[in-house]
This record gives sequence, structure tokens and C-alpha cells, in this order.
Amino acid sequence: MRKAREVGELWFWLDTIPVVAFAGCLILGIWLASLGQLTVGELFAFFAMATALRWPLESLGFLFSFLVDARTATDRIYEVLDEENTIVDPEHPATIAEPRGELAFRGARFRYQDAAASERDLLDGIDLVLRPGETMALVGLTGSGKTTLTTLPTRLYDVTGGSVELDGVDVRDLRLAELRRHISMAFEDATLFSASVRENVLLGRDDLDLHSPEAQAVLDEALEIAQAQFTYELPDGVDTTVGEEGLSLSGGQRQRLALARAVAAKPAVLVLDDPLSALDVDTEALVEAALRRVLATTTALIVAHRPSTVALADRVAVLEDGRITAVGTHAERCAPASTTGS
Ligand SMILES: Nc1ncnc2c1ncn2[C@@H]1O[C@H](COP(=O)(O)OP(=O)(O)OP(=O)(O)O)[C@@H](O)[C@H]1O
Ligand SMILES: [Mg+2]
Repeated sequence: MRKAREVGELWFWLDTIPVVAFAGCLILGIWLASLGQLTVGELFAFFAMATALRWPLESLGFLFSFLVDARTATDRIYEVLDEENTIVDPEHPATIAEPRGELAFRGARFRYQDAAASERDLLDGIDLVLRPGETMALVGLTGSGKTTLTTLPTRLYDVTGGSVELDGVDVRDLRLAELRRHISMAFEDATLFSASVRENVLLGRDDLDLHSPEAQAVLDEALEIAQAQFTYELPDGVDTTVGEEGLSLSGGQRQRLALARAVAAKPAVLVLDDPLSALDVDTEALVEAALRRVLATTTALIVAHRPSTVALADRVAVLEDGRITAVGTHAERCAPASTTGS
């Protein structure tokens, strides 16, 4: 709004001053001509020159208004750049040489900074332990905080109370690079970078030479698991540039590439936030069948809305009012509570 006001004021004066000055000069010129102190030819010559000069001067005004635009834009960029990153490497980092993949939330609490003070914590003491190799589905009403919960293990946000532990080590005691090598994520609204399919999928594999046969094997396997074989048919195959500056992909195609990226990293723990939501039923079934192989050996936390995705899990956790209110197998969840006793 301030920018609009400043630009408006600038143009008001830039338009008004010359017109008023012209009017003044005309009146003065007519008066002088009537007194015989100025010839009509001189007056005409003056206006001819003034008109010729007017546009170059006005274009200076254009440049000034661009300056205002540029300043607003730079301010916005610096607003982000100047923001202090509070999620940093610890001073005395711990390390996990061979992760087993036990992920534990211990009384984890979280609230967004802009939440009203009167509001209670969005995550209000989460206690949940994923055993090594186990697949846990997380279900809950929309807006209950499932996506928020999935951002905590990789420290996209830090807990505001309690802790999240990987193999018994607080995630805040690990270097970010190491933590994010052990835990991979795929989001519902997947982001692809402006790079080739190959670079996007192998993003987490800086140990591989992108064009080596080993990398190709990892890529092929990941694309197969995520049912993203469509990438072979792109104009340049897996070397086609996708993302903002490249080929636009559909939501479901992007989701599958993001899933392939998470799987290709071969992490100890996979965190998937509703990763199949944009897929049609047939493709979803194919991905699920392939995912089962990966999930057999990897610890996974999967946010799921569809029953078919929930069925992938060994156990299901229910998030309600900021807490995990029930954990059990899918079958137990479907049966009436009184018959299972859990
Ligand atoms: N970046 C953010 N800043 C502030 N509040 C947020 C932010 N992201 C989410 N929220 C709020 O946190 C609450 C939980 O959001 P979250 O995305 O975790 O829900 P969800 O369980 O994943 O929902 P869905 O099933 O629809 O994906 C919502 O009320 C939302 O308004
Ligand atoms: Mg969500």
C-alpha cells in the first residue's frame, strides 16, 4: 500500500507541474505579447521547445517510479535473507554410524510462532515410537497437525518441547546433513528443482557419480518403485529438464518423482506425507505393491487418508487434539474397541 501511495504521489506531481507551468507560461506570454515585449513567433518558438523537452523530463519520472518498485522488491528479498536461521548444526554433534532406524517422539510439543497465545499447542505431547523396520500410518482429521508432525524428524521445524529421537539420539544433536541422510521425506505438494529428472531423483545421492552405471541402477529402481516410468518417454528421457524452468509435470507425476527421490536416497527412515494423494486408483495400487518391498526393511511414517494406503502399515496411529490417542493394527482399528480390549 505504501508503494502504491508513493507511486501515486509521484505521478500526481509529475503530471501536474508541467501542465500548471505551461498554463502559467501561456498567460504570461499572451500578456507580454499584448504589451509588445514579445513577438508571437518568439512565444511559439518557446512552446515548441518546451513541448520537445517535456517527454524526456517525464521519462525521468518513469525511472524514479521504477526505483520505487526495485526498492520494494529488494526489501522483500532481504526480509528473507536477513531472517536468522534458528535451525543450525549443534556445537558438539553426535553421530550415528549404522542407523537402525528407530524413530521416537517423546512428549514432543509444537506450536507455530504466529499462533495466538491463548491457543493450546498444536502438538500437545506426542508419544510415539516406531520400531526399526516398522511402517506406521498416521491418520487424523484434516488440520489435526499431521503434516506438522512430519516436519519434526528432519528438523524443518524444531520441537518447542519434548524431543524427537533417532536411535535414541536427539535429532538436534546430529548434524543437519547427517540427519537428512538418515531420514528422507516426500510431501504431498512435491517440489521439483529446475534440473533433469536424473538430478532431481538422485538429489540425496551425492556419493554417486550421476552418470555412472551404479547411479543408473539406483535411478531405474527408484523410478520403478514410484511407477514413474513415464520419465523415459519425455523428449530427452531422464535427462529432460523439469521443474520451474523446464517441462511442467502434473501433480501426480511430481508426486511420483518426489517419492522416487525419497526412495533413491535409501534412508533408514522414510517420512511420507500423503504421497499418493494425486494418483489414480490403478497407479496407486502399483506404487503400493512396489513400496511394500522398500517398506519391508525401512522404518516409515506415512500420513494417509485412503484406506488402501493405511493398509500398507504394520500399525496405525491416530492423531487427535494434538495427541496420539490410539495405536494399533489396521484390523484392530476396524473392529469395535470393546472386542479388542486395546
Ligand atoms: N506454516 C504454518 N504457519 C502457521 N500455521 C500453520 C502452518 N502450517 C499449518 N498451520 C496450521 O496448523 C494446523 C495443522 O496443519 P497441518 O498442515 O499440520 O494439518 P494436517 O493434519 O496435515 O491436515 P491435512 O490432512 O489437511 O493435510 C492447521 O490449523 C494450520 O492452519
Ligand atoms: Mg497435511
